[in-house]
Amino acid sequence: MKRFAGKRVLVTGGAGFIGSNLTDRLVEEGAEVTVLDDLFTGRRENIRHLDGIRFIEGSVTRFDLVSRLVQESEIVFNLAVRNIIVSTRSPRLDFLVNTGGVFNVLLAAKKHGIEKIVYASSASVYGNARYIPVNEDDRLSIINPYAASKLSGENFCSSFFETYGVPVVILRYSNVYGLNQSPTNPYCGVVSKFFEKLMNGLPPLIHGDGEQTRDFTYVSDVVEATLMAALNPKAVGDIFNVGSGRETSVNKLARTILSIFGSSQKPVHIDRRDIDNIRRRVVNIEKIRRIMRWTPRISLKEGLTRTFEWLRSVEASDEPISPKIPVTSEIEDPDAESPECQGAAAP
Ligand SMILES: NC(=O)c1ccc[n+]([C@@H]2O[C@H](COP(=O)([O-])OP(=O)(O)OC[C@H]3O[C@@H](n4cnc5c(N)ncnc54)[C@H](O)[C@@H]3O)[C@@H](O)[C@H]2O)c1
Repeated sequence: MKRFAGKRVLVTGGAGFIGSNLTDRLVEEGAEVTVLDDLFTGRRENIRHLDGIRFIEGSVTRFDLVSRLVQESEIVFNLAVRNIIVSTRSPRLDFLVNTGGVFNVLLAAKKHGIEKIVYASSASVYGNARYIPVNEDDRLSIINPYAASKLSGENFCSSFFETYGVPVVILRYSNVYGLNQSPTNPYCGVVSKFFEKLMNGLPPLIHGDGEQTRDFTYVSDVVEATLMAALNPKAVGDIFNVGSGRETSVNKLARTILSIFGSSQKPVHIDRRDIDNIRRRVVNIEKIRRIMRWTPRISLKEGLTRTFEWLRSVEASDEPISPKIPVTSEIEDPDAESPECQGAAAP
């Protein structure tokens, strides 16, 4: 049974890493998908194979555009984001896109009505958590502008739900990896960075002692949680962690990747302070298990193996990257008028 048969769905940031995987599954599930993406880090080739979707090249910061697209939709997945590195360089852009984007979606939904909004938030709102694994109602600790903008987006979601009854679900993703997380994206995660080094015959670079931990979650598991959040009436108005529930050190990640790659390289440790300077991170996923019956299915080894196979297949293919899908160009991003924003947009 196709769970989204005939549903009109809007995915902001749908040409990005997670958004393109989500769009892929939505099409399989029978949805009529519109992707709104300004292609800042998103790539047309991520979704070019998806016949029948509508792609709008434009910014979530444009209320007129967002309002029209929300009016035409029954479900909205809000994933558009300026990532943590860009956010740190330009907090204004961070605020305009990460908070302003979801604010525009909420305002449009209040005006036109909507069946469900799923807001992709981040475990970064926990900062350096006092207790591990971290629960949804634990104390938050906002240690960078990215976390501030994601939390601000959450707060607008909660307030629009409480005040106007706009049906939202907030998901706090932990570190996600997998297909379409391109190493050519200068902001890609550590998994892609390690693979990229190895594919270029170089050792993985580890920041610090490598004993910092993260909760690495394979993208198909994250996508399934996101789909379930849109469908489950019990999820409305609530916040859920989405992760593997397993704590993995960066050293262990590097060892696993080296073994999958079949490489005898030794990781090189460099003394660089990360922007995402968190010592330990793993999220408690009991709430989403209990309420939505979601559980992660893909082990770290399996997910890394799939990622490696995908990277190899991309490297081996010389397919053209022009899109098959129709493109509507609406890229007039008001942010571009700010010199500060333009500077930050350069990778
Ligand atoms: N990847 C992770 O580990 C992770 C972890 C926690 C939360 N998240 C959240 O998941 C969501 C997706 O992240 P991702 O990893 O796929 O990032 P990504 O950078 O690959 O995707 C973000 C997409 O948003 C688009 N975008 C940026 N600014 C835009 C704008 N003004 N208007 C329209 N589109 C715009 C980009 O072009 C890109 O396609 C984000 O909301 C992010 O905060 C991701």
